[in-house]
Amino acid sequence: MTDNAANGLMPFLAMDILKRSKEMETQGRSICHLELGEPGQPPAPRVIEAVARALPEPQGYTNAKGLTELREGLSRYYATQHAVEVDPDLILATMGSSAGFILAFHAAFRPGARIAVTRPGYPAYVNTLLGLGFGLVEVPVGAADGWRLTGADIAAAHAKKPFDGLLFASPANPTGTAMDRAGLADIISTCARLNIRLISDEIYHGLDYRGPSVSALELTRDAIVINSFSKYYCMTGWRIGWMVVPEDLVRRAEILQQNLFISAPTLSQIGATVALGEREYAEEQKAGYAVNRKILAEGLRDIGFDLPFAGEGAFYAYAGISRFANDCLQFCETMLEQAGVAATPGLDFDRKDGAGFVRFSYAGTRASVEEALERMQKFVRAGG
Ligand SMILES: Cc1ncc(COP(=O)(O)O)c(C=O)c1O
Repeated sequence: MTDNAANGLMPFLAMDILKRSKEMETQGRSICHLELGEPGQPPAPRVIEAVARALPEPQGYTNAKGLTELREGLSRYYATQHAVEVDPDLILATMGSSAGFILAFHAAFRPGARIAVTRPGYPAYVNTLLGLGFGLVEVPVGAADGWRLTGADIAAAHAKKPFDGLLFASPANPTGTAMDRAGLADIISTCARLNIRLISDEIYHGLDYRGPSVSALELTRDAIVINSFSKYYCMTGWRIGWMVVPEDLVRRAEILQQNLFISAPTLSQIGATVALGEREYAEEQKAGYAVNRKILAEGLRDIGFDLPFAGEGAFYAYAGISRFANDCLQFCETMLEQAGVAATPGLDFDRKDGAGFVRFSYAGTRASVEEALERMQKFVRAGG
């Protein structure tokens, strides 16, 4: 953990890049946006139609756990996609997975408890934990192992500084690393042995290019599982996600939701209920990301980025820049100004070793990925 993290919250550098790129666009510059971790496409047409139909009706709060139709739909989703039975009473609709984290931390732990996350990892984990008064342990994962977290990594970190919880995502942001069943089972059994409560962030489920994503629910009922409609269903701004909570925590999670958020946005719950049946549309979007993933990985390697591992899931490539620079922030700023390509500095995900990395998102169009590669090729040839 860096001093910066120990002293409090950390800025989100991607937002600085986004702000500058928007300024440049208003001045007439064309920008390839590879910094944003969100799909470029809208939700499925039926989602929009359902919400348009509901719009004229008064939309009050829902029950704190969420609409029965949505929770029953999610229960069916677990039966169909993961062959597990999940009681709708253990499911809460949340205001994106972001609210799910807050509910999970406060349902399972008390402020001061220590929770481990991987480094690199999603920056909001660190900021949310520190902001809410929890302790943080960062477990480093490395490119040599495909950025994969193992039970041995968890045990080694725990022996140095014990922790009560582990928040872990597969597929992961920023590396795209996705665990197979054996890898996830290793993590789950290590957590059980060391009495660590697992929070499994499954927000990129569905976006796994090798095959079906494995849910922690297939292997344990002690984990809190968090998921969202933001990525696979293209609904980032709708702020709608869900969590599956073990029986011993569900009442506490419900009470927290009643008081912190009352309920998730009603219109978004209506849209989400429909989205669950629109997997064909979601799979079409995924097919586009799969093409972009290949083009981006090959293109980055040709240009000279270090990408030994393309990632099996999500829509990110976490590439080394050692051939061009050792300061990712300066590299991203210069690349934006000179080439009009926006990407996210690795320091956002890893304050210690992230300076040598940049994250590229391939959630946009194929044309924007191809244009970005052409521009970056010229940029590095000209000396970066
Ligand atoms: C790993 C991970 N978890 C959670 C989130 C938050 O998503 P939301 O609150 O939109 O569900 C993100 C967003 O990028 C993410 O990358």
